[in-house]
Parts: sequence; structure tokens; C-alpha cells
Amino acid sequence: MRALFLLLSANRQLKRWSSRSRFARAAARRFVAGDSIEQAIAAIRTMNERGLKATLDHLGENAETEAQAIAAADGYLVALDYIGQTGVQSHVSVKATQLGLDLGTAFCLANLERVVARAREIGTFLRMDMESSAYTDRTFEVLHGLRDEYDNVGVVVQAYLLRSRVDVLGLIDAGIPVRLCKGAYKEPASVAFHRKSDIDQSMIDLMQLLLSEEARHKGARLALATHDEKLIEATKAFADAHDIPRSAYEFQMLYGIRPALQQQLADEGFEVRVYVPYGTEWYPYVMRRLGERPATAWFLLRNLLTR
Ligand code: FDA
Repeated sequence: MRALFLLLSANRQLKRWSSRSRFARAAARRFVAGDSIEQAIAAIRTMNERGLKATLDHLGENAETEAQAIAAADGYLVALDYIGQTGVQSHVSVKATQLGLDLGTAFCLANLERVVARAREIGTFLRMDMESSAYTDRTFEVLHGLRDEYDNVGVVVQAYLLRSRVDVLGLIDAGIPVRLCKGAYKEPASVAFHRKSDIDQSMIDLMQLLLSEEARHKGARLALATHDEKLIEATKAFADAHDIPRSAYEFQMLYGIRPALQQQLADEGFEVRVYVPYGTEWYPYVMRRLGERPATAWFLLRNLLTR
């Protein structure tokens, strides 16, 4: 099922056909805060009132022309203006391909720099999401180009990639904040673990590295991005055993997934940040979410059929 949804997320014809279906629209309502920035800001305001922080994702990926990539960056500038003017507690999360990585590293870097500069002006932080392994090296190249000038930028590491331990050591050395997640793309066994137990173990190993004294000292702050309670508990236990303060790391989860757990952690005094996607380009994002938990797809389908 996961492979089927990943195929759906990447196929253009299927996208055209199924993004108009009632099923896909129902799924989008579950995982996306709305089509507009105003709806996303309203959702973040409600979360902030409940003690949850946010990171805003203006949905989109794989810009095919420079005009599309520039328009995507402009969309982020608008989002940052809203964050600045409303005072909501939110970072932004950006996909490099949305800002033109397929059109060249230098172009993407220049386009993204406008967004990072505005984020710094309003005192917020930009996280570079990580996409499929075809983009890992180039995403790091853009990241390091940005970090030469800006310190309000971090990146995502996917624990399923075999290379990630080496990447994490490099990021710790450079003092770059890391969001650690399992990984959401279809990858061959030559580059990624496939067994759940291997991916979970890699999450734990990398979490421990990112909570080490050296990582904390250098500023490679850990954001553990998962809804997996076992990994969350393992992180809390490791931090407690090593007297690591709660302020040294945060938990991150996706909008619409396990909201009760998000709230519970915030109520316990942990920093929790919710990834809030918005916009009309929701299709691939939503298909990846359905692939992670096909039970949601069956639930939505049954609701539509029995209505
Ligand atoms: P797992 O899939 O084992 O889920 C644990 C439990 O959470 C499930 O049993 C279920 O209860 C619930 N759950 C998880 N996913 C669900 C879903 N889709 N629908 C309903 N319930 C669900 N990936 C990537 O490759 N690059 C990136 O940049 C990011 N960025 C990112 C940011 C944030 C804040 C998060 C939380 C995640 C990402 N990811 C990502 C996605 C990540 O790689 C991973 O695919 C998902 O988080 C699902 O994995 P879990 O760690 O939650 O575990």
C-alpha cells in the first residue's frame, strides 16, 4: 500500500485524475490547514494558544521553470510577512525543489536566500525539508551556501538513509540544527534501510548523537520529528538519564496526526512544534501521508461510500 501511494504521489496523470476526486479532497482536509495563508495562520494561532509552536509549509515541490520557483519564494515572503505582522510563533519549512533545485544549485541558493534573509529580519528560522535521495547532496550544498551567511537555517536528516550517520556527524561539527525523521520517500535498498527495526534503531542512534554534549554545545539542536511513541519515550528517557534539559531539544509532529499526543507532550512541558502545510499543491504531500497509514485511506473511503 505504501508503494502504491508513493506511486500515486509521483505520477502526473494519476495526479490530474485523482486530485479532483472526493476521496483525495477528504484526505487533504485531514492533513492540510487550508488553501490560503489566512487559514494556516488561524490554525497556528489556535495551536499557539494551546502551547504548541508551528512551522509553516507552503505546499509545492519540483518547480519546472524559474518563474514557478520565484513565485514559490514570493509565496514564502508573504507567509513570513503574516508571521511577522500577526506575531504567531512559527518557523517556515521549505523544499529545495520547490524553490528551483532542479534548475540548478546556484539558482536555488539565490532564490532561497531571499526567504532566509526575510526570515532573519522577522527573527524566525527556516528549515530545509529533505526530499528523495536524488536531492540529498544538492540540498546540503544549498544549506552550506546559506549557512555561510545566515545562522537561522537548519535541515532535515532521514534516519532510513544509510549515509545519515556521516551526515549527522558533519552537521554536529558545523553546529547546524537538525530535524530527525524516519524518511518518507521510496528508496532502493542500496541507499536506505527498509526494515522498521533498522529504521527505528537508526533513529535512536542519531537521536543520541544529536543529544550529545558536543552537539548541544555547538548548536546542532535536535528536533525529533515522529509520532512514534516508543521513540518519543526513548528520547525522554535518554535525556533524563543524561540530565539534558527539556529546552535542549523539541518534538515535532504533522498537522492532523496524533493531535492528542502533541497536546499531551506540550502539557508535560516539552517544546512541541507542529508542521502546518497549506496551499493548493497538496496532492503529493497528502499521498505520502496516506501511504504511511493506509488505514486512514480505508477510513476516508468508507465514510464517503456510506454517507
Ligand atoms: P510511524 O510511521 O511508525 O508512525 C507512528 C504512529 O504515528 C502510527 O502508528 C500512527 O498512529 C501515527 N501516524 C504516522 N503517520 C501517520 C499518518 N500519515 N496518518 C495517520 N497516522 C499516522 N520526511 C522526509 O522524508 N523529509 C522531511 O523533510 C520530513 N519532514 C517531516 C517533518 C515533521 C514535523 C514530521 C513529523 C515528519 C516529517 N517527515 C519528513 C515524515 C517522516 O519521515 C515520516 O514519514 C512520518 O513522520 C511517519 O513516520 P513516524 O516517525 O511518525 O512513524
